[in-house]
Amino acid sequence: MKLDVVFTPAGLTPTEVQGRTAFVIDILRATTAMCAALNHGAKALIPVASTEEALRLAQTIGSADVLLAGEKDCVRIPGFHLGNSPLEMTEVAVRGKTLIVTTTNGTKALLACQGAAAVYAACAANLTVAAEKAQEQLERDGDLLIVCAGRSGAFSLDDAYCAGRLAAAALGGLKPRRGLNDAGIASLDLVRRYGDRWERPLTYSRAGRELIKLGFRDDVLDAARLDAYPVLAHFHERRVTLAHVPV
Ligand code: MLT
Repeated sequence: MKLDVVFTPAGLTPTEVQGRTAFVIDILRATTAMCAALNHGAKALIPVASTEEALRLAQTIGSADVLLAGEKDCVRIPGFHLGNSPLEMTEVAVRGKTLIVTTTNGTKALLACQGAAAVYAACAANLTVAAEKAQEQLERDGDLLIVCAGRSGAFSLDDAYCAGRLAAAALGGLKPRRGLNDAGIASLDLVRRYGDRWERPLTYSRAGRELIKLGFRDDVLDAARLDAYPVLAHFHERRVTLAHVPV
């Protein structure tokens, strides 16, 4: 069994992701906002690397059902329809729409995993459903990769704690120390430290403090709501959509 956590996608090579199942976490706020959008009826989200690419793609698609969403320095990009707040992803705003999304770290982390066999977006808001999938994959393949978006190529407490929660749930009762990399062990240590109190690592983290300072406290609290947007968000062929769950 092999369960790897990486605290940032910086330096993640295509070989490291190839053929694996990856869960990408940017709890503050990109993956939380994506789950909120899908939960409220968005058709798909297309993560892109830059504002310019988002504008180009919107022009190419040229449909009224396309919305531009994303942030720079945590605030909505000028001219975009939506920012990166899960609270903006209401049914009225997103039902039936395709969102082209660009954010500072979250969309880049998803794009870094493009060569994986399967990629899912995870956060507190979809933890149970994501963990069920992660556990299933771990049992089936004996392998799992959890990628934290981090902050500008560095560790972030909020994502690392969420990675620990996902890893712990995927492992179930197993204690396979030998199969975990050091970041995996450290993420589980964070879970032991904070227990199930999501708001602590989220509000203590630099990302959380910055969002609160900018007036987004409600977003941080929303991101701490376990299973608030219980969707399995699958990144496949450039789009994040609801995963097809076989009946
Ligand atoms: C990111 O992608 O860095 C974040 O989601 C930033 C934010 O909170 O909007």
